[in-house]
Amino acid sequence: MGLIQEKQPTKDTLQNKAQLWNHALSFIRSMSLKCAIELGIPDVLHNHGKPVTLSELATFLSIPPSKTPALGSLMRLLVHSGIFASHRHQVAGEEESYFLTPTSELLVIKEEKVCISPLALMILNWTLLGPAHQLGEWFRAGAVGPTPFDMVHGKGFFEETNARADFNELFHKAMASDARLVTEVVLLRRQWEVLRGVRSVVDVGGGTGTLAKAIAKAFPEVRCMVLDLPHVVDTVHEGEKEGVEFVGGDMFEHIPPADAVLLKWILHDWSDEHCIRILKRCKEAIPPKKDGGKVIIIDIVVGVTTDFSISVEPQLLFDIEMMILCTGKERSETEWRHLFHVAGFSDYKITPSMGLRSIIELYY
Ligand SMILES: C[S@@+](CC[C@H](N)C(=O)[O-])C[C@H]1O[C@@H](n2cnc3c(N)ncnc32)[C@H](O)[C@@H]1O
Repeated sequence: MGLIQEKQPTKDTLQNKAQLWNHALSFIRSMSLKCAIELGIPDVLHNHGKPVTLSELATFLSIPPSKTPALGSLMRLLVHSGIFASHRHQVAGEEESYFLTPTSELLVIKEEKVCISPLALMILNWTLLGPAHQLGEWFRAGAVGPTPFDMVHGKGFFEETNARADFNELFHKAMASDARLVTEVVLLRRQWEVLRGVRSVVDVGGGTGTLAKAIAKAFPEVRCMVLDLPHVVDTVHEGEKEGVEFVGGDMFEHIPPADAVLLKWILHDWSDEHCIRILKRCKEAIPPKKDGGKVIIIDIVVGVTTDFSISVEPQLLFDIEMMILCTGKERSETEWRHLFHVAGFSDYKITPSMGLRSIIELYY
């Protein structure tokens, strides 16, 4: 009777298996980040001013001692992922202590400062995660029909913000945090050459006006307007307007005339057909290039980043996110050029900015 030889997996098979486990478990990475933000770990590490041991962290967060080892596991993963850092002196028995990395500095909640936490919490909220489970069904559902978001919520993304004040607030806080990033990177560093010579600007889909208010402050001579849906501009109280005019309306119908129309994170929400309609309204709102008119788009150009070391993977992830949430997509330069041509624009210029996004100036 011979021995039954079990086939040994090759090194490649084991690597492939590990890669697939890693992929399937990636949501744990997202959820651990969400958990750390919800617990306030970045703020504790920031406020303490020096590395924090695990037992100190548990105490600061009021976590029961029975769960301190679990907190250790959470921190081990987040250190491994580069969100936090840790060190342990080679003295016997010394506890590991944790501190912020440049990445987690961006999670600390500070007034008027760049903070990615509201955006991460919005992306990882149930309202957005539920539809992600519908992607396979959506592909099978035929050529036209509701988005995965509609399939779960029975209405479109912006109808949901209208229907639910809590979701509207979560969404606009996330958008305002991102607008602060643009303000810091582009405006405050005086790179905002694109506004040179512009006398009036309308931020279309400008939400609660974070970017427009920053422009009004940096360029007091420029007339600044925000066009957004009535339920959005209605949340901005008179005393909060800071020199910006808020107009409730529909960008598919009419855009107030101005030298420059700003579209930040708008067109990636919409299908080509919708974008062409919006861009045609923009063209009606601005003068030709010779008279100083332009559209300024802040969005991803797939494959374009400010630095070769910045991975394009988040651009590809955002592309799928747009597929899940709305009718939009992230576009390559070729796809953008097609839209501009069909909407009647003759010239454009792309400047990579803010890592993953670009500023596109559009003229006719
Ligand atoms: C992804 S958010 C971008 C917000 C802001 N531009 C930013 O980047 O922080 C899209 C914005 O478009 C607005 N919006 C959606 N449909 C609109 C419409 N038909 N007319 C005007 N604004 C609209 C939403 O209310 C929301 O404020």
